[in-house]
Amino acid sequence: MARFYVTTPIYYVNDAPHIGHAYTTVIADAMARWHRLLGDETFFLTGTDEHGLKVQRAAEARGMTPKEWADVTAERFRDAWAQLAISNDDFIRTSEPRHHRAVQELLQRVYDNGHIELGTYEGLYCVACEAYYTPDELIDGELCPIHERPVERVKEDNWFFKLSRFQEPLLDWYAEHPGFVRPETKRNEALGFIRGGLEDFSISRSSITWGVPIPWDPSQVTYVWFDALVNYLTAIGFGEDDERFASWWPASHHIIGKDILRFHCVYWPAMLLAAGLEPPQDVTVHGFLLVGGEKMSKTRLNQIAPADLVEEFGVDGFRYHFLRDVPVGPDGDFSYERMVDRYNGDLANNFGNLLSRVATVVGKKCGGTGPAPRADSPLAPVAAEAYEAAARAWDEFAPSQALEATWRLVRETNALLEATEPWKMDPGPEVEAVLGDALEALRIVSVLASPAIPAASEEAWRRIGLPGSPSDQRLPAAAAWGGYPGGLPVTKGAPLFPRLTPSA
Ligand code: ME8
Ligand code: MG
Repeated sequence: MARFYVTTPIYYVNDAPHIGHAYTTVIADAMARWHRLLGDETFFLTGTDEHGLKVQRAAEARGMTPKEWADVTAERFRDAWAQLAISNDDFIRTSEPRHHRAVQELLQRVYDNGHIELGTYEGLYCVACEAYYTPDELIDGELCPIHERPVERVKEDNWFFKLSRFQEPLLDWYAEHPGFVRPETKRNEALGFIRGGLEDFSISRSSITWGVPIPWDPSQVTYVWFDALVNYLTAIGFGEDDERFASWWPASHHIIGKDILRFHCVYWPAMLLAAGLEPPQDVTVHGFLLVGGEKMSKTRLNQIAPADLVEEFGVDGFRYHFLRDVPVGPDGDFSYERMVDRYNGDLANNFGNLLSRVATVVGKKCGGTGPAPRADSPLAPVAAEAYEAAARAWDEFAPSQALEATWRLVRETNALLEATEPWKMDPGPEVEAVLGDALEALRIVSVLASPAIPAASEEAWRRIGLPGSPSDQRLPAAAAWGGYPGGLPVTKGAPLFPRLTPSA
C-alpha cells in the first residue's frame, strides 16, 4: 500500500497563529485528505517549535518558566487547527521527552560519524530568526534582513556541524533527485546556496538552558534549528521504533514557506546524510502571503488571525479561498475583496446554488426522490476529465489547479441545467435524465472537493441521500461516472454558502 507522510513546519510558539501559518497548514491538510481518498496510508504531522532564546526570553519577561509559557502558547495552535478542521494525525512539541531522545540520537550518530567538531564562534545573531548572519547580509550592516531589527554579537565555544564537507554530496543528491524541491524556482535558489559555498555552523549553545542537552557535553544545549528539523523523524519513531520509522521514512513530503528554504533544502538533507540517513522525498516551498504588500509581522501590526475570517466566510470558505487563490510558489497579496468574490462565485453561486436548484426541482418534479444518471450523459466525459486533471494537480501539490479542474464539472453541470431548464418541463423521463446527471455530478464533486471543503461536501452528500461521507470514498472508483444509484431521498436545506455582501 502506498504511504504518504506530509508535514508542516513546526511553528514558533511565541507567535499567535495567523493566516500565513494557516495557509501552509491548510495545504498540508488538503494534501493529506486527498491521499486518504486515494486509499494511501497517510500520516499528517504538525506541531510547535518551543526551544531557543526567543522563547526563553519571552517566558522570563512574563515570570514563567519556558515550559509553562510553551504550554499556554502551543494551545493557541491546537485551537486554531481544530477550528480550521485540520486533520493532523499527531501534534508534536519539541519540549516533549520523545523529541529530546530523537534529537540526541541524531546528534550522536552525526558525532560518531565524525561530522561534529569543537570550535569557537563569534558572529552576528538575530534572535528572531535564531540564525547567524554575515555582515554583508545585513541592512546597513546592522539590521536583520528579515526582521529589520539589530542583530547581536555572540561569541561562544561551540560544537560545529561540518556542513562544508557536504557541498559535493548535496549537489550529487540534487542531480539524482530532480524532484527534490518544487517549484523549480525554489530548487534553483537552493542550488544557488549550495554552489555559493557552505560554511560549518555551530549547533550548540552554552549561553542558554532551554533546549536539548548535547549528549556528550550536557553543559550545552542544541541549536534550535538542529533540534527543530528532527521533529520530522521523532513523530515516526526515530530511535525508538525502527520498524515504524522505516515504514515512513524517507517517503516524506515537507511543505514550507520560502523563509525557511535554506534550513530545509540545504541544512536538513546534509544533516541526514551526515547521520547516514536518506533525505526526505521532497520539499514543497510556497511564497509569502502578504498583507498590503508587506510580510505579516508583530511589529507592523498587520497579522490577520484565521478566526476573524472564519467568522465571516466559514471554515470551508476560508480553506477554499487560500487553496484556490494562492497558488503554491509565488508570493500572494491577501485581498478581502478577492476572497468575497471567490466565495460568492465558486461557493455560493456555483456549488451551493447547483445543490439547492437540483434539490428544489427533484422536490417539485420527482416527488423528492433522486433519479439515476444516464450512462451516456454529456457530463460523463466532463467528469472524467475533471478527475484526471484534478488528480494530476494534487499529485504536483497544486491545490489551486486541482480545484479549478473540479469546478469545471460544477460549471458544466449548471450549464446543462440552464440549457435544458428542467424546472420548466413536465415530470417524466426527460426531467429525470437531466436531474440524475446533475445528482451524479454533485456526488463526484462532493468527493473531489472534500479535501478543500470537508463540511460542505459532507452536507451535500447527505442532502442527495447518500449514506456515509465523501471522505470515506475511494478514488479513482468514486469518481467513475454512474455511482449515484437513484431512488434516494433528496432534501432541501438552508443555502450551503449564503451569499455575502462585502462589509464596508
Ligand atoms: O520558522 N505567508 O517557524 P515560524 C506564508 N519554527 N506562510 C507563512 C507566513 C506568511 N506571511 N508567515 C508564516 C519557523 N508562514 C520554525 C520552523 S520547521 C522544522 C521549524 C508559515 O513560526 C510558513 O510555512 O516562523 C513559514 O515557513 C512558517 O509559517 C514559519 O513559521
Ligand atoms: Mg518565522
